[in-house]
Amino acid sequence: MGFRILTLNQISVRGLERLPRDQYEVASEIGHPHAVLLRSADMHAMPLPASVLAVARAGAGTNNIPVAALSRRGVPVFNAPGANANAVKELVLAGLFLAARNICQAWAYARELEGANAAINEAVEKGKSRYLGFELPGRTLGVVGLGAVGVEVANSAEALGMKVLGYDPQITVQRAWQLSSSVQQALSLDDLFARSDMISVHVPLLDATRGLVNAARLRLLRPGGVILNFARAPIVVEADVVAALDAGHLHAYVCDFPSQALKNHARAITLPHLGASTLEAEENCAMMVADTLREFLEHGNIRNCVNFPEAVLPRQPGSQRIAIANSNVPNMVGQISTCLAGAGLNIAELLNRSRGEYAFTLIDAEGAADEVLIERLRAIEGVLSARLVRPPE
Ligand SMILES: NC(=O)c1ccc[n+]([C@@H]2O[C@H](COP(=O)([O-])OP(=O)(O)OC[C@H]3O[C@@H](n4cnc5c(N)ncnc54)[C@H](O)[C@@H]3O)[C@@H](O)[C@H]2O)c1
Repeated sequence: MGFRILTLNQISVRGLERLPRDQYEVASEIGHPHAVLLRSADMHAMPLPASVLAVARAGAGTNNIPVAALSRRGVPVFNAPGANANAVKELVLAGLFLAARNICQAWAYARELEGANAAINEAVEKGKSRYLGFELPGRTLGVVGLGAVGVEVANSAEALGMKVLGYDPQITVQRAWQLSSSVQQALSLDDLFARSDMISVHVPLLDATRGLVNAARLRLLRPGGVILNFARAPIVVEADVVAALDAGHLHAYVCDFPSQALKNHARAITLPHLGASTLEAEENCAMMVADTLREFLEHGNIRNCVNFPEAVLPRQPGSQRIAIANSNVPNMVGQISTCLAGAGLNIAELLNRSRGEYAFTLIDAEGAADEVLIERLRAIEGVLSARLVRPPE
């Protein structure tokens, strides 16, 4: 008997291969699943069986998952941050070239040419001046948001000879290490816009980022500027961008979000949300999330989780592991330790990590931990979930 995984979407085979068949039963219809693995299926209205210990999304966003309700039940939600970053970066780089060389407009012109080759050649020589472009080296790219995608875009743009400015007040230490040391830090968003020729946004959609690219900031951008948006549509005020394109102040708007106003605009290039649409990105997401799910089910360790803190504890040989999700309130560790002592168990290792209103506790205990103890732990006020970490019987 092993872990049962319920899939709500087709998951890349390379990801599923990470869940060995002798330990994992994976199916789209399965009773009492230990985990749910999905891509974009909407879980909000779905009743969740009490057996579910974890939910894993083979992708970055988790809008389709009732994260708050799962947190209250002590169920971690895993995702695959950065697994599609290279795919998005490559499309952003394509976007820089499409805009700089007017490729889409020029291609549309070429497709409309009619007549014999002599007539086509004549039209080409007459028409090509309309599509005069510019080169990237020496131009300044402003990158808003230096996360998984933003860092890759910044480093690649620099490799193309561009000057790169970055803005991210909450950059993580890991991303700061990855970022090329010659990327300059902008002092503020306004400073970034005032010093850039092209701007690419790579921030999540939050209240603070909604409408981040607006008329006031577009006025700061140098004339002939380009905005690239492969993050989320509402980060850019569409009406303001269209007005700047119409006025000729903005040379191009390249984005992943077609709309009525943009799809046929002469200076807009819209793609049908293709940022992460590569075979490799889908495989990377599935492999990454399968690995994190396995690590959690088999060892209780938490990585790449959106609602509980990272908690990784090497296993103590000869001990039994207990994993507890709890509210981040005083005296939880004290009550948990007392409960274990009452059952005659010695704590060999204990890790307690908190994040916002939630915390996660891993314990390697010496002695015979059983389901009676787990029930006692679950009865402690503030304990959201508790389990003995071992293959199911
Ligand atoms: N087009 C697509 O198909 C596609 C694919 C993947 C991601 N995305 C979008 O791209 C976004 C970025 O993806 P990621 O993987 O790099 O995410 P990430 O979480 O790794 O990075 C986001 C960064 O934005 C920063 N940030 C947040 N608020 C900010 C603000 N107000 N100003 C400046 N920086 C701010 C954060 O500190 C973080 O470093 C995602 O949130 C998603 O919306 C789109």
